[in-house]
Amino acid sequence: MRTLLVIGATGLVGSKVWIAAKERGYRIVGTHNARTSPLPQSQKLDITDTDATHKLVAALKPTAIINTAALHNVDYCETHRQEASMVNVEGAANLANAASETNCRLVHLSTDYVFDGKKGHYDELDTLNPLHYYAWTKLEAEKIVARIPSYAVARPSVIYGWNKLESTGIPSSSGKTVNFAMFVLDRLEKGETIKAVRDQYSSPTFADNLAEALIGLVESPENGVFHTAGRSCVSRYEFAMKIADVFGYSSGLVEPVLSTDFKQLAERPKNSCLDVNKAEKTLGIRFLTVEEGVRKMKIQTVVRDVA
Ligand SMILES: NC(=O)c1ccc[n+]([C@@H]2O[C@H](COP(=O)([O-])OP(=O)(O)OC[C@H]3O[C@@H](n4cnc5c(N)ncnc54)[C@H](OP(=O)(O)O)[C@@H]3O)[C@@H](O)[C@H]2O)c1
Repeated sequence: MRTLLVIGATGLVGSKVWIAAKERGYRIVGTHNARTSPLPQSQKLDITDTDATHKLVAALKPTAIINTAALHNVDYCETHRQEASMVNVEGAANLANAASETNCRLVHLSTDYVFDGKKGHYDELDTLNPLHYYAWTKLEAEKIVARIPSYAVARPSVIYGWNKLESTGIPSSSGKTVNFAMFVLDRLEKGETIKAVRDQYSSPTFADNLAEALIGLVESPENGVFHTAGRSCVSRYEFAMKIADVFGYSSGLVEPVLSTDFKQLAERPKNSCLDVNKAEKTLGIRFLTVEEGVRKMKIQTVVRDVA
């Protein structure tokens, strides 16, 4: 039986990978760090602990590892550089070494933020130029992962979907509080207004759709970097408006603002939208538009308490 080790199964992506892999008949072992996992077969692991990481991988001898773990609060990383480097670079290196030693494949999550956002519609061959420390750590990790015999680097962008743990308020060691779509829905449900930036563009990525792509990358014989994001290139304002529209809330609650109106420590790329053609062709899958992803999220509303 194929064994899949999911690093960060308490997270949004990790929990969706767990579900997708289960449906495909994998034996799955997930890991958690600061939070308690509601999933069976979960093991506590901090990937900055080199010995513990090697021991877990050596004991399991998985077919593949999917690493979703990161410290990815962008502004926090800017002022906590050593901590960010420990998790995002050293942690990734620990997993890469452990994967290499046990001859298993590593699928590693990176980010659209490795680009500076001056061009947009980036493909995998475009020039990399991180604007902030978080993005720099993710790029360093990409380089480390690319040295092992069997790997894939997946670059998503603004990931959204239901994750019950995010609504509990129990903090994750990732530094993330709640994903943008859940944040917007929470505010809209309460009838509260939302300010959303209208001059920063990205490719919102539905977590369930991303999980399918990650399993595809586990099973693909190809090494390399793959853009695994949504098909739409939209501003946060357009994204929030689509959520309001699909879920039937008043669009008047969503207020467009400029990035200069928002005080953010680290500069964000203006347009980090990704071209997903390579991943679609390689994996034989189709990434969803914002409209399609948000509609699927709405269908899942009735089951969100168990998602
Ligand atoms: N979210 C986005 O919009 C976005 C966009 C582009 C790229 N990405 C990348 O996509 C990946 C997954 O994102 P996500 O939204 O699913 O993240 P998430 O919901 O914040 O989950 C992160 C997971 O990593 C675990 N973790 C954090 N630090 C760890 C450590 N030192 N050792 C072991 N596990 C650790 C967390 O465990 P606990 O919760 O138990 O502490 C959690 O399970 C990340 O690599 C991120 O850089 C995210």
